[in-house]
Amino acid sequence: MTLNGRRILLGVTGGIAAYKTPELVRRLREAGADVRVVMSAGAEAFITPLTLQAVSGHRVRTHLLDAEAEAGMGHIELARWADQVLIAPATAQVIARLAHGFADDLLSTLVLATEAGVWIAPAMNRVMWDARAVRENCRVLEARGMHVLGPGVGDQACGEQGAGRMLEPDEIVGQLRGREPVLAGLRFVVTAGPTHEPIDPVRFLGNRSSGRMGFAVAEALAEAGARVDLVAGPVRLATPPGVERFDVATAEEMLSAVSARIDHADGFVGVAAVADYRPASLAGDKIKKSGQPLTLQLVENPDILATVARRRPKPFVVGFAAETRDLESAARGKLKAKGADLIAANRVGQNRGFDTEDNTLEVFGADCHWSLGNRSKRDLARELVAIIAERMQPKEHRNQQ
Ligand code: C5P
Repeated sequence: MTLNGRRILLGVTGGIAAYKTPELVRRLREAGADVRVVMSAGAEAFITPLTLQAVSGHRVRTHLLDAEAEAGMGHIELARWADQVLIAPATAQVIARLAHGFADDLLSTLVLATEAGVWIAPAMNRVMWDARAVRENCRVLEARGMHVLGPGVGDQACGEQGAGRMLEPDEIVGQLRGREPVLAGLRFVVTAGPTHEPIDPVRFLGNRSSGRMGFAVAEALAEAGARVDLVAGPVRLATPPGVERFDVATAEEMLSAVSARIDHADGFVGVAAVADYRPASLAGDKIKKSGQPLTLQLVENPDILATVARRRPKPFVVGFAAETRDLESAARGKLKAKGADLIAANRVGQNRGFDTEDNTLEVFGADCHWSLGNRSKRDLARELVAIIAERMQPKEHRNQQ
């Protein structure tokens, strides 16, 4: 997607990252975009309208009730003019205002009045970014179709380290351009969700996996141009666009669905929380209370990931690890034991990991490690897919496409 000729309305709000916005405007204009800037009152504490006027080539608007400016291009006209709205930096304040539909300043009014897509690049202290109110507000915005860019992880102006840094101007421009089809021509098989191992006709052994992370990975792979077969355990989720889905219930069914599709796959991502054990036998009738303790005999399930990793030629194999402690050593152990190329590990426990919207991921390869901070599972999936694309690059089969 090209930015050439695109009309971008840039909203600047009051964070220290506002000092990067002249560079952002320059980059957008270099890419061919026409940029008009609106500043919140807070933004003016960090940067002057004159600076942004100079780099954008247009007068900067700061107030809703400005008779002179309204006589030129009124706010409704400005909202209609935009092909795309970008808010960078977006403070916790503007995120909250947008989530609640405020219309008492120019920027929030424009967002309500536009039919253009809205992208926001948050910038704030890492603890603020993790605050429940901010997470929930971001979720509301994403559910309404807005796009949250980043934030990045790294040094912050407040002297701390963590997620909350506004993405660099180049990264923002890259994201507005759209996602590159970095995996075009490649085929992936993804597993997602829990497995249900039947005990009797009405009961099963299961777990709390919602399937959201696996579905997000399948979606991100498809967005990156890959052909994706998604083998899903019992979950209540819509199939992501461009993904072919096969529903299964048990680990054995999951293994046969994967085996039937893995022959021509270039990559396998095992996100499913596969039950390690299943009942040794399935009772034909519902088990009744007997007043005595009941012992269920369990037998081990096949390890789908390890089975795929033993194939030759071997596809690029990514596993997940949900751990309650010793994340790194457990993940590195799994990398070796299962023969995976990457293990994406996350901490689970009370209100963490399973059945939640947000997550953190630590990704380990034999000689590398990435920390992906607290963000939506969709964003994490996109970053994981970028890592997969980068790590698959040198592989021979990549060149044969
Ligand atoms: O050993 P553990 O269950 O922690 O490993 C998790 C990883 O292995 C996940 O990627 C999961 O999808 C995969 N797995 C599998 N088959 C199993 C158990 C786990 O594919 N039976």
